[in-house]
Amino acid sequence: MCGIVGVLGHHQAAPILVEGLKRLEYRGYDSAGIATVDAGRLDRRRALGKLINLNDLLVHEPLAGTSGIGHTRWATHGAATTENAHPHARGKVAVVHNGIIENFRELRAFLADKQMTAETETDTETVAMLCDWFLSQGSTPEEAAKATIARLEGAYALCFLFDGEEDLIVAARKGSPLAIGWGEGEMFVGSDALALAPMTDQITYLEEGDIAIVTRAGASFLDEAQQPVERVCKTVNVDASAADKGGYRHFMAKEIAEQSTVLGAAVKYYLSNREGQHTLETGLDFSGIDRVVMVACGTASLACFTAKYWFEQIAKLPVEVDIASEFRYREPPVSDRTLALFVSQSGETADTLAALRYCAGKVGKIVSIVNVAESSIARESDVVLPILAGPEIGVASTKAFTCQLMVLAALTLQAARQREVLDGAALAEHVDQLMRVPGQVADAMTCEPQVQAISAQLAQYKDAIFLGRGAMYPLALEGALKLKEISYIHAEGYASGELKHGPIALIDKDMPVVVLTPADNMFDKTVSNMEEVRARGGKIVMVSDAAGINKAGDGSWQTVAMPRVDGPFAPIVYAVAVQLLAYHTAVEKGTDVDQPRNLAKSVTVE
Ligand code: F6R
Repeated sequence: MCGIVGVLGHHQAAPILVEGLKRLEYRGYDSAGIATVDAGRLDRRRALGKLINLNDLLVHEPLAGTSGIGHTRWATHGAATTENAHPHARGKVAVVHNGIIENFRELRAFLADKQMTAETETDTETVAMLCDWFLSQGSTPEEAAKATIARLEGAYALCFLFDGEEDLIVAARKGSPLAIGWGEGEMFVGSDALALAPMTDQITYLEEGDIAIVTRAGASFLDEAQQPVERVCKTVNVDASAADKGGYRHFMAKEIAEQSTVLGAAVKYYLSNREGQHTLETGLDFSGIDRVVMVACGTASLACFTAKYWFEQIAKLPVEVDIASEFRYREPPVSDRTLALFVSQSGETADTLAALRYCAGKVGKIVSIVNVAESSIARESDVVLPILAGPEIGVASTKAFTCQLMVLAALTLQAARQREVLDGAALAEHVDQLMRVPGQVADAMTCEPQVQAISAQLAQYKDAIFLGRGAMYPLALEGALKLKEISYIHAEGYASGELKHGPIALIDKDMPVVVLTPADNMFDKTVSNMEEVRARGGKIVMVSDAAGINKAGDGSWQTVAMPRVDGPFAPIVYAVAVQLLAYHTAVEKGTDVDQPRNLAKSVTVE
């Protein structure tokens, strides 16, 4: 959700800013812009749409200067237009912003009294206007930025750049992440360490409410009360090549293909199978827990929903799964016997963070499962369980989903062991089953040519239904979500048994129905539901293992072969099939796979 960069360097700032923005474009791609100070003069360039448009503009209208700020936008206040693009500049200041200024109307009214009128529809312009007003009252740039920040309500990561000031960026963080990068006599600002990875690995993460006064000599920090404070700088090892497609056509394809490797790393981190015992170094104790509450958004919530089946069936622990945007306002009762678990790839999702804050102080421990270890959700948790997926750049979540499932599966086994609800042999068998998953995911990738051929046909349809039973039901929801978000085909997921209670009315020859059904103890029941679809002319895409396809594949429109998966963790393996189906259908339709319309990764607004 909007990406920010800043540089006070020795070289031309524009190419450095554009490179940083390229690495942040997954956060939003409605418009992009940069501002620099050259020979004391502040100037800016902005372009609608993707970064490439800004790049083209800069070829024709270059921007010189070694100091600058940049922004890639996901529109909140104000349509995606060039006028609404950041940086917003008024008088002697330019501002880039990630977040929402909630009191911008009040500030606008205050400024209107001073005969200052807004020229854009954005909340951010108000920040620049207010800062300009403080400057006009005789404040220094630093004082003006500080006074402005003190008047803001809402969420922000902000950078201020000033006309006449080639060695100053004022940066601030509240509710949206911001990192300061330290170079050799040059300094950087970025929404995350990945944006700064080509420039530096020396990073200071701002705390909530912090302000950073950045010059080429370094940065000084003020806390929420604008009092001087020390903030540590640490070495952050981000693999700079993570922002590279590595020979794949899309990040999504790369990230799907990486899954067996990253799952292998995750399983190794969480489990070791010594004499049938697994160890799990989480510091979690399930013995005093009587229920688990899992809260997340989107795909992450579907990982939680899958884990509900595992926790309840294997660990015999009741689980409630809630969507964060509902949970946060519903005031659900929780107690110190509740384990509250927050799952988020980015660790910045505003609703999930708010849900976590609701639980803080009410539950025994706040536990988060995140991909970004320095994220806000991680920083506000008592226990952080990393999913170890590595940076996920494709906007549609793939490897983060399966790694979330892997960590949740490992937690399930830990809970089962601590609660003594499984005998040693059964537990050891589940551990073995989980350890086999990365290899099975690699095997599942062999379905790609088959799926690609099916996708060529699926792309001709307007709607699709996904069915699954048991732990395959959440995966049916995920398959539908993935297909709609990147191919724009309308898709719905249903529990197989629920079909006849309404959705079956939709079935006809124009309705592909993807059935996720390993040959397990639910198989015959799902096959019965499949027959109900077939009897009404629906086109079945049966995703199953060889035994399942042999037994009931006849009469299917298409089949997709999965490896045999014994035990409860088949959703992790079958995820590959639904991801590839969505991916190839989107490629077939020619949509923007990595940056689908209207979406952004890391949703830092409500
Ligand atoms: C879908 C997708 C989203 C995210 C959701 C939560 O492919 O990626 O549904 O899962 O926005 O994001 P995080 O996990 O960052 O909290």
